[in-house]
Amino acid sequence: MCVLDLRCIGISRLASRKPAAPPVFLQCLHEHKTQKVTLLHPISEFEKAHSKAESMSNSILVTGGAGFIGSNFVLQWIENVATPLVNLDLLTYAGNPANLVTLEDDSRYRLVRGDICDAEFVAAVLRDNRPRAIVHFAAESHVDRSIADPSDFIRTNVLGTFTLLEQAKLYWSGMDEAARRTFRFLHVSTDEVYGSLGWDEAAFSESTAYAPNSPYAASKAASDHLVRAYFHTYGFPVLTTNCSNNYGPFQFPEKLVPLIILNALERKPLPLYGDGRNVRDWLFVEDHCLAIRTVLERGRVGETYNIGGNSERKNLEVVTTICNLVDEFCPDDGSGPRKDLIKFVADRPGHDRRYAIDAAKISQELGWRPAVEFESGLRKTVAWYLEHRSWVQNVRSGAYMDWIRQNYEERVQP
Ligand code: NAD
Ligand code: DAU
Repeated sequence: MCVLDLRCIGISRLASRKPAAPPVFLQCLHEHKTQKVTLLHPISEFEKAHSKAESMSNSILVTGGAGFIGSNFVLQWIENVATPLVNLDLLTYAGNPANLVTLEDDSRYRLVRGDICDAEFVAAVLRDNRPRAIVHFAAESHVDRSIADPSDFIRTNVLGTFTLLEQAKLYWSGMDEAARRTFRFLHVSTDEVYGSLGWDEAAFSESTAYAPNSPYAASKAASDHLVRAYFHTYGFPVLTTNCSNNYGPFQFPEKLVPLIILNALERKPLPLYGDGRNVRDWLFVEDHCLAIRTVLERGRVGETYNIGGNSERKNLEVVTTICNLVDEFCPDDGSGPRKDLIKFVADRPGHDRRYAIDAAKISQELGWRPAVEFESGLRKTVAWYLEHRSWVQNVRSGAYMDWIRQNYEERVQP
């Protein structure tokens, strides 16, 4: 039995959110609550007549807002910004409307379910909501899945970004001059487009040459190039952010941090690829969301901003720290320390050795810096997963278990 006092560990505001009363529509995963979602293309009659229509003017459109970073961004936006937000999300395995269940009665929030690859659908969403900006998170995001099957990554990340850009450009072209001048398209990308660093190499800056190594990274690099081209060719007002590894609440447990938290909790093996010495620069998701808001409001059009957590850690260090935290929250029942569960497994093919972000540009130009230290962010994150067991239970569907079997059962010890 775990003992967890959220007041003592300073858990973030997200942890204390209580699900609101269930209203209409689709059954969603979270604690058997229902969630208001707009049905897939074409936009339903209900949606057109919905009473929110009036209150949605001056909104921003977010794509992929039901995913990990997107959910955190939407919650932070609604809590801190007066203007409304429309969330366009296909709700793939990685998209979970339950993350946003606390917003279902908020007149400034609307979820529209659909595909960024569907030009007609995207055009209708833009026409009906008339956003003043777009923040584009929607993507396939897991490197291991891109190695197992790259096709969805090419479709969503390349074709989807192209479709969104094209429809957004058409929409922007039809705006009056004042609205055109302030419109922004912010593309959320990754440090993985820069490839892999040696131990002593300088961190990635905005002028580091692209050298993507996985199908995921290549698909994100392609999308970055399209975004750049739309600015250069058409003057379309884009901003691009390239950030390092995020961690925090609502991350799908296929990624290292939540996977290790949950396995440690359940005393399952903790798989470390290769020698466990690969380095990532860890960024607390709420810091990342604030950085995106800063770039959206004050970034220079056509520019790229790198965003990092200033927290380089080897994977073995990350996993050991998580084990110690889980041991602290769920004291030993005689089974021994969780770090004994670490198991070195076959490496990820083409595994990038080290990522590190030089965030001097965003810090000097826009005054943003990461506020959350890695160890305290990780403490909040472990606490969040321990406190949200039903969320965890619900995202671990049959499809999730199939992926875990596919990715781990065939990995042999090196
Ligand atoms: P995620 O996988 O958790 O969420 C992706 C979201 O996009 C889901 O809600 C999914 O339903 C939606 N989506 C997928 N395909 C779609 C489609 N065709 N149409 C509409 N919606 C679709 O991803 P994340 O970790 O939150 O990452 C968000 C963005 O940030 C991605 O672009 C990713 O490349 C980038 N990024 C992530 C990290 C990280 O550490 N997680 C770091 C750097 C950059
Ligand atoms: O750097 C930014 C990128 O960070 C984002 O663009 C991606 O969307 C995001 O998924 C993340 O990619 P990584 O591949 O770095 O994250 P992941 O959590 O999959 O892995 C982190 C490190 O841990 C990496 O070196 C691989 C290793 N790893 C991962 C898993 C899932 C393990 O050793 N064991 C595991 O079981």
